[in-house]
Amino acid sequence: MESSASHGIRAIERKFEAIFGAKPAVVVRAPGRVNLIGEHTDYNDGFVLPVAIDRGILMAAAPRDDGRVVLHALDFGQSVEFSLEAIERDEEKPWSNYQRGVAYFLQERGFKLVGLNACISGDVPIGSGLSSSAAVEVAAAYTWQVLSGFELSRVELALLCQRAENEFVGMSCGIMDQFVSALGHRGHALFLDCRSLDYELIPLPSGAKIVIADTGVRRDLVSSEYNTRRRECEEGVRLLQQYLPHVRALRDVSIAQFETYQGELPNTVRRRCRHVVSENERVLSSVEALRRGDLAAFGRLMNESHRSLRDDYEVSCSELDDMVEAARKVKGVYGSRMTGAGFGGCTVSLVAEEAVEEFRRRVAAEYEAATGLVPRIYVCSAEDGVEAVKGLAT
Ligand code: GLA
Repeated sequence: MESSASHGIRAIERKFEAIFGAKPAVVVRAPGRVNLIGEHTDYNDGFVLPVAIDRGILMAAAPRDDGRVVLHALDFGQSVEFSLEAIERDEEKPWSNYQRGVAYFLQERGFKLVGLNACISGDVPIGSGLSSSAAVEVAAAYTWQVLSGFELSRVELALLCQRAENEFVGMSCGIMDQFVSALGHRGHALFLDCRSLDYELIPLPSGAKIVIADTGVRRDLVSSEYNTRRRECEEGVRLLQQYLPHVRALRDVSIAQFETYQGELPNTVRRRCRHVVSENERVLSSVEALRRGDLAAFGRLMNESHRSLRDDYEVSCSELDDMVEAARKVKGVYGSRMTGAGFGGCTVSLVAEEAVEEFRRRVAAEYEAATGLVPRIYVCSAEDGVEAVKGLAT
């Protein structure tokens, strides 16, 4: 039987052919991600532990020799056309700013890009905290790399995509999402030091599943609250530097140092810093727990992370809390927490394989009873980072 992945590839190839009258030269797949632990630590130079998942973005493309880019967003039923010679933001079709930004910064680095005909579609729910935007950027950068034939390491590709999102799209995200979409690995979580960009692939244990539950809630305030949190962290660094001059980012503050100097911080900044400092510690402990195969300890750290995000960092919401509560009632759930930036979106739970069906049933029922909303629940697998699934490969 055809898998859903190959079904998606065939569907986008057919669409491409129907629109452009020829087969695509390449189909690129870039995964979305779920972060197991290490939330709001990446822009504090800290540690994260995301997984690239079996949902993502497909981009089918063929080169054009006139320097123009024609993009069809199949999920929106919209298309845009622009010239590589004058790349500007598009306020009417903002979805195209991801590809525009990527092209802009690839050219700024001196790469000669070919024009493109392309179709894009995805199965990562938009705005759900599973990084559809990073996957769109990484897919575009890799497609240009394959078709234009230049050398760019995957780490550099991730950094360039982050820059496109920061400076072209205007969202000040950290490096986590683009990094794991480019460098994730099947069956593994990616333990990343967001300062040095050193990373290690940590095998995921057998016998447990990563289950994503989408609250269905999307809130516009994500971007403004995200920027506020970043500023509060910077303020914490500035204040702590008076006592700890070596501190460049909250990553440099140990729990003991935080405890010594927390009294010098205003209440809100203190709680934001406490989250980041303790979350970094939790990531390190969770990696140790995974290495020992201690799922119970890993789950406790996930639960603690949620508490800290809810009470100290204040980026959860009642629906995320309800979903986490419902999950924890199911026997066989090791841990559950919100994932991604927060204010809606998804939770991630680590669930014993034999408890997954019960999870689906009970969590859906309890969440619906509590909120009146029907959640979407996905059991996901850890997959490879961006790749050409058809056609050329670098
Ligand atoms: C968003 C950002 C990431 C990261 C998370 C929170 O997904 O894109 O860089 O900061 O929020 O951990």
